[in-house]
Amino acid sequence: MSNSRGRVVLITGASSGIGQACAELLGANGHRVYGTSRRPAPDGTHYKMLEMDVTRDDSVQRAVDAVLAAEGRIDVVVNNAGFVMAGAVEDVSIDEARRQLDTNFFGVLRVCKAVLPSMREHQAGLIINISSLAGEAGLPFQGLYSASKFALEGLTESLRQEVAPFGIEATLVQPGDVRTRVRENREKASQSGPGSAYREAFMKVLQAVEAEEGEGIAPVAVAEKVLALTEKRRVRVRYTVGHLSQRAALMAKTLLPSRTFEQMVMSLYGLSRR
Ligand SMILES: NC(=O)c1ccc[n+]([C@@H]2O[C@H](COP(=O)([O-])OP(=O)(O)OC[C@H]3O[C@@H](n4cnc5c(N)ncnc54)[C@H](OP(=O)(O)O)[C@@H]3O)[C@@H](O)[C@H]2O)c1
Repeated sequence: MSNSRGRVVLITGASSGIGQACAELLGANGHRVYGTSRRPAPDGTHYKMLEMDVTRDDSVQRAVDAVLAAEGRIDVVVNNAGFVMAGAVEDVSIDEARRQLDTNFFGVLRVCKAVLPSMREHQAGLIINISSLAGEAGLPFQGLYSASKFALEGLTESLRQEVAPFGIEATLVQPGDVRTRVRENREKASQSGPGSAYREAFMKVLQAVEAEEGEGIAPVAVAEKVLALTEKRRVRVRYTVGHLSQRAALMAKTLLPSRTFEQMVMSLYGLSRR
């Protein structure tokens, strides 16, 4: 890989939130940054923007090819594009579930498949997959979102072992709540409106989730972690970023009996058993 500054970095979902903060910070620190989003967006002070819809093979390949044509290599990829599909598992249609996985999971897979041939050729590269604390603990009314991030976690664990012989590293970053446009961009299952058996509980949980997001860390805190990772020779499987209370809650999952942990999460969101 080229020296720790001046690396060629591709960041998906850089038109807002965590992706935009990463593009700004890495660009300001001397990296050659290409951000992407579905709609054409203006270049930043320190980075260029390209169009890429991670749900479309041709769009992903076109953007990756454009970076390779301009730079000859991609050193670091930050797979960040994503959104939340909210609603009870029973209320999420199969089409909505597919859309969630298509962006948050298959989107990452598409980008990885597009960049890996070049990374293998250069015998170097770093793939940073933005997961979530919800990628290690299933949260109520975020079942499909959690499923997409759990899938991403498994994929990344496997990928690491396969690409290590080629000098390529892969890692997961698990943010807790971050103040971004996640709330505005959240989709709600079409069956979760009035008439849903889960309506009352869903609205209560959603209110709690939105309050937590409002108190979340600034996106630049995640970008600082991503920047630090670009400077490491070896990366661990996963890194958490966020308020200590949220990171500690995740740690509790490994320490507490599973039903006790589940009870803790449920009461946090005001849910109780019959
Ligand atoms: N905010 C949080 O509390 C939080 C916590 C844990 C993990 N995360 C994760 O962090 C990542 C970034 O989220 P954020 O909070 O920064 O949200 P955000 O502000 O809503 O930004 C989402 C970004 O993803 C892009 N995007 C969405 N669908 C896309 C698609 N099909 N193709 C290409 N780009 C797409 C959006 O760009 P366009 O709409 O312009 O295409 C936008 O740039 C996500 O993976 C999310 O799951 C967020």
